[in-house]
Amino acid sequence: MSQMLSWSNISSPLAVWLMVFFVIVFMGILIYAAIMKKDQVHDLSGKALDEQDLLLEHEYDGIKELDNALPPWWKNLFYVSLIFGVIYMLIYHTFQVWNLPEAEYVKELKEAGLFQDTTAPESPSNAKPVLSETEQKESMLKAGKQVFMVNCVACHAPDGGGAVGPNLCDEYWIHGNTKAEIIHIINEGVLEKGMISWKTMLSADRIEQVAEYIMSLQGTTPANPKEPQGIKVDKS
Ligand code: HEC
Repeated sequence: MSQMLSWSNISSPLAVWLMVFFVIVFMGILIYAAIMKKDQVHDLSGKALDEQDLLLEHEYDGIKELDNALPPWWKNLFYVSLIFGVIYMLIYHTFQVWNLPEAEYVKELKEAGLFQDTTAPESPSNAKPVLSETEQKESMLKAGKQVFMVNCVACHAPDGGGAVGPNLCDEYWIHGNTKAEIIHIINEGVLEKGMISWKTMLSADRIEQVAEYIMSLQGTTPANPKEPQGIKVDKS
């Protein structure tokens, strides 16, 4: 993690030095310009200038502009912040004499023995929990139920008892009760009977989940079961 945090690892050393170079050149130009600029209230010999000397040439509707110098406190603050910025960059980024806050935090965590490297894939506390088969099945049915509740209840009723669509809890099936047959009918639909083709609306995963869920409804007793449709098939 601390590796990720250090700036010099993501930029090449050359890029860092180029940046330092440009910042120094930029600062040099600014400072040179500031020194060379004539002092506008007094000239170089200290003689006070009058307003005429400060008047800029342009004029709009009688409004004229004086080329006043910026107040010294403003300029000094600017130079100080520039110098501070360069020193900061050299110390924290270029030479990494001191740590940036996040690295400092990690270091303190390590010292306190509280650090967990969340980026290391092999750390056991971090490994993805391996689901047991029953847990996998449970999460599949849970996901399938969600898909069913959102998309299918309008025609098959919340408990699968059937409405426009057939009862999915009984032993009678129009299109078969194996997983493959159920997935097929969900994918393709029976448009002329009102069963939509879902393959463009649900992902293959979702369709498998809802198929599992429908199979889990076998043998349950819905509140208002629709009369049997299709032929009687043994539980698959
Ligand atoms: C607009 C109404 C409607 C919706 C919504 C609907 N179905 Fe159906 N479904 C039907 C009808 C009608 C049939 C019967 C088709 C036939 O008679 O061949 C059917 C049949 C089925 C069958 C075959 C049943 C059998 O007896 O072979 C399955 C499985 C099924 N639907 C699953 C689903 C799933 C899963 C969803 C949601 C993703 C869903 N249906 C959404 C109307 C609908």
